[in-house]
Amino acid sequence: MRFLLLLAAMAIASSFSADIPAAYDQPFRPQFHFSPREHWTNDPNGLVYFDGEYHLFFQYNPFGDKWGHMSWGHAVSTDLLHWTELPAALKEENGIMIFTGSAVVDSQNTSRFCIGNKPCLVAVYTGYTPQRGSLPSVQTQNVAYSNDRGRTWTKYSRNPVLDLHMTDFRDPKVFWFEPTRRWIMAVSLPNDHKVRFYSSTNLKNWSFLSDYGLAGAATGQWECPELFELPVEEGGSRWVLKIGLNPGARQGGSGEQYFIGQFDGKQFKNDNPASTTLWTDYGKDCYCALTFNGLPANRPPVMIGWMSNWQYATSLPTSPWRGQMTFPRRLWLSRTRDGIRVFQKPINMIEQLRSVHVDASGRLVAETNSKLKSSNITSNITKQHTFELISTIGFGTAREFGWRILQQNGVVTVVGYDRNKGSLFIDRRHSGLVGFSPQFPSRMDAPLRVSGSLELEILVDRSSVEVFANGGQIAMTSLVFPPAEANAIEAYTRGGNPSTISAVLWGFKSTHD
Ligand code: FRU
Repeated sequence: MRFLLLLAAMAIASSFSADIPAAYDQPFRPQFHFSPREHWTNDPNGLVYFDGEYHLFFQYNPFGDKWGHMSWGHAVSTDLLHWTELPAALKEENGIMIFTGSAVVDSQNTSRFCIGNKPCLVAVYTGYTPQRGSLPSVQTQNVAYSNDRGRTWTKYSRNPVLDLHMTDFRDPKVFWFEPTRRWIMAVSLPNDHKVRFYSSTNLKNWSFLSDYGLAGAATGQWECPELFELPVEEGGSRWVLKIGLNPGARQGGSGEQYFIGQFDGKQFKNDNPASTTLWTDYGKDCYCALTFNGLPANRPPVMIGWMSNWQYATSLPTSPWRGQMTFPRRLWLSRTRDGIRVFQKPINMIEQLRSVHVDASGRLVAETNSKLKSSNITSNITKQHTFELISTIGFGTAREFGWRILQQNGVVTVVGYDRNKGSLFIDRRHSGLVGFSPQFPSRMDAPLRVSGSLELEILVDRSSVEVFANGGQIAMTSLVFPPAEANAIEAYTRGGNPSTISAVLWGFKSTHD
């Protein structure tokens, strides 16, 4: 009997990642989100699928864990789950840093950069020349190409391809627009709160198309614009123009808004009044998200964001790396009572990360909690700080309900729903290490009106919590830095009892082992 118990315990242990390499096993090190092995990262760049590989480039400082010497780090994956980090792709040169941008597959060799007329990769990025003496800093748009599946890159000899002699002009997102057979670039004029559109037939010569701006939230600087088409669940499609703001986002610091409308190859037209402000993510920690170029037509659009906020990004208590990406999310549009909105959910491949689970469904909170407590699998799952919780909670008479996770001795992260306010929230004020910045401890909230019950999918990965509510209508992303022993998880309620709780807790495999 003892032997059987031992075997069972070993089976449970081995279904977790006992073999995480030391380089990826520090406190707070994400186990299924991308983070560089060492050093600083911010925005994802140049997301592109090519020849069976997903490429994730990222703003990267090859020399340290603070912003500086910006280059494009590089990682590849065949499944969007397991990433292999490669040497930096585009490096600072002659004091010119490589800022954010995008990458395309030039399948028809429109650029004449592709050897042997085979498809090649072309990156379009901002070159940043810092202030020199009395000369102000300059941002220009540049291109580089690779004929070996992104392993090595050549900067175009006649860079820059766009130069407005401006200090702030950055973050080009380029995509192919089939109806006009042109490359389209969306690029930001950050201080004017405008996105400028250009077109090109060869990725080198760019013609001005139009400006879109001074709409929605026009505070701070506008950065990282992106225009992409999304299917609408009820049929048809719309164009989404997404823009990063820093500072001035809804939760403070950096965050992203979007507009929904039409694009005719020249101009973006907003379907909503210019004053309508929509947010892609209601947490503090999803910025400069980017979708993949080059995905096969039958795959849904996939987006990855930088999981941080400029308010405190340089102070995060992690080492030897600083910065990580969100889990890849599939995007679509769906009609809500307020109109068509962006929906997002973790990509379906997430299922491959699931190991063991506990079904803690119950009629009462107490029943759910006793199921969680009595299963010895629960603590095996939660002590890893890498898990997924999928639940649907019927309102019943509860005024507020939800989950307390990563909990111990007063440390807790709360994911809850306040029925009276119609508001979903993450409260990380007591989530562990919060004192490294006065802007970190916070309670983030999202307006969400649902009737009867609330569906939640919560991803936890050592130093992050991502919440997807009501079938993907709301996404909330939040960093947290709990102590190792904060392993308890429980449902809670206030002011009454939920009618039913269905809840499944999944342990996750590490993608590093
Ligand atoms: C956004 C951003 C971009 C810029 C990059 C520099 O986080 O400020 O606008 O290209 O970071 O690292």
